[in-house]
Amino acid sequence: MKRIFTILSSVLLLAGCCQKAEIHIIPAPNHLEAGSGCYNIAGASFGYDNELDGRSASAIEQFAAQLSLVSGKPSAVAKADMSAGVYFAFNSALADEAYKLDVTSKGIRIEASSFNGFFYGIQTLKQLLPKEIYASWKVSGIKWNAPAVSIDDAPRFAYRGMHMDPCRHFWSVDEVKKYIDVMAMHKLNRLHWHLTEDQGWRIEIKKYPLLTEVGSIRKSTIIGGLNDNFAYEKEHGHMNEDGIPYGGFYTQDEAREIVAYAWERGITVIPEVDLPGHMLGALAGYPELGCTGGPYEVWTRWGVSEDVLCPGKEAMFTFLEGVFDELMDIFPSEYMHIGGDECPKVAWEKCPNCQKRIKALGLVSDDKGTKEQKLQNYVTSRLQAYLGKHGRKIIGWDEILEGEIAPGATVMSWRGAQGGIAAANAGFDAIMTPNTHFYFDYYQSDKPETEPFAIGGCLPLEKVYEYEPFEGIPEEARHHILGLQANLWTEYISTNEYLEYMLLPRLDALSEDQWCQSEVKDIERFKADLTSRMFPVYDLLGYTYCRTAFGQPGLPESK
Ligand code: ACM
Ligand code: ZN
Repeated sequence: MKRIFTILSSVLLLAGCCQKAEIHIIPAPNHLEAGSGCYNIAGASFGYDNELDGRSASAIEQFAAQLSLVSGKPSAVAKADMSAGVYFAFNSALADEAYKLDVTSKGIRIEASSFNGFFYGIQTLKQLLPKEIYASWKVSGIKWNAPAVSIDDAPRFAYRGMHMDPCRHFWSVDEVKKYIDVMAMHKLNRLHWHLTEDQGWRIEIKKYPLLTEVGSIRKSTIIGGLNDNFAYEKEHGHMNEDGIPYGGFYTQDEAREIVAYAWERGITVIPEVDLPGHMLGALAGYPELGCTGGPYEVWTRWGVSEDVLCPGKEAMFTFLEGVFDELMDIFPSEYMHIGGDECPKVAWEKCPNCQKRIKALGLVSDDKGTKEQKLQNYVTSRLQAYLGKHGRKIIGWDEILEGEIAPGATVMSWRGAQGGIAAANAGFDAIMTPNTHFYFDYYQSDKPETEPFAIGGCLPLEKVYEYEPFEGIPEEARHHILGLQANLWTEYISTNEYLEYMLLPRLDALSEDQWCQSEVKDIERFKADLTSRMFPVYDLLGYTYCRTAFGQPGLPESK
């Protein structure tokens, strides 16, 4: 790759109509050449090729409407208007999601072969314009100049994900949309939506109404950290709880609205039903699905419960298939996430139904795993086969590798990178979400006392940025690494401000790990891009963000 990147953050002195313009784009384009001059886009006409699909056309319409609003000068959009100032051309030679963006003093041209390519061309163009392009009001006194530039850009990884946990704490539809907006700005293309948990089931399933009627509400939530509560429990016989019922769920219509909103921004929503562990939300409503028959309660504390689904009962499979039938109807994603993490086997060891199933299947403990681990493999494979019949693939947390795993499963490596490395070496696809680099619930510095209370860990911005996805993976297995994702668990995150604080600007660093070729990454340039461009954009859009990496730890005063 040609290395012309050093000019990126430098101040460009531009001729003619142009004041000096700075270019600060995150994630940084993989190939950028600055030109001379600029193009004033206010009031420009927009045109696009006949080959463009409806979604691309509507993204162009929306951008033109946004520009018209902030500049106060209407921009018309017309199909095949070759004389337009801003033109979108179909270029079948470009890879999926790739785009070319050329700005000259005469006009702007964006080329792509797919919706995501055109959408990313627009995101980059917005980043070239004054930050007020993101406003939702008319802004006076702005020169709407885009500096002359030639960009030829494509992502490093096909899977660029961010995870959201609405179970430990719930996020409204508007909050989810705001999360999606900032993902889209950074050219992410997957939202991993963790919809079920011990602490609450968050998606309406019409066949099983008690999942939400009962399973979405916990009667209370522990106060403070889990570890402190163990000490409290010893002394008081119970944990220190707030006594306030907490709940929430998405109706199927709301989930569809989120799916459509994400799709318009090039993002596929992957739903997760975490199974067979982390299932108290479901068991509270349907106790017959557990080994003992319950009763069970939606959990009021954090951690890993020993009460899990009972795969000794055929009804458990009927239940899961019924749940996924409805999810497949809502979520067109090729991948369904079936969880698989942190499933203790103590209940299965004691359960006559589970042991009967183990015997009937002829499962034995050996050096590949215990018979109970293999029972979990059986659950995974049965669901994989069921979803496969409907044209879907599964993703599971890296525990699904324990024992035996069926071909075609994708492994999400969270306990460090080892699971992803093992999966790739064994011929499985993997998504890297190592807790060493991508657990955004961790503290953002090694001085936790300066930060809002968090689950633990230490994950500063620089550490997210320095991640090297192919470390420990031989060349021939690297194609199995589909991409990268960060996870943001919300046990201790109860407000949207705090959620955004944990997300930003680590999401910026993640986006460069996902998008940029390694030679394009440069921490000093990246940090300058944050302070010069992204932080002012976040201020304008009302996002809360963390400045710990810039010597200002803690949530901003006003929040
Ligand atoms: C996980 O963090 N339990 C996937
Ligand atoms: Zn059982």
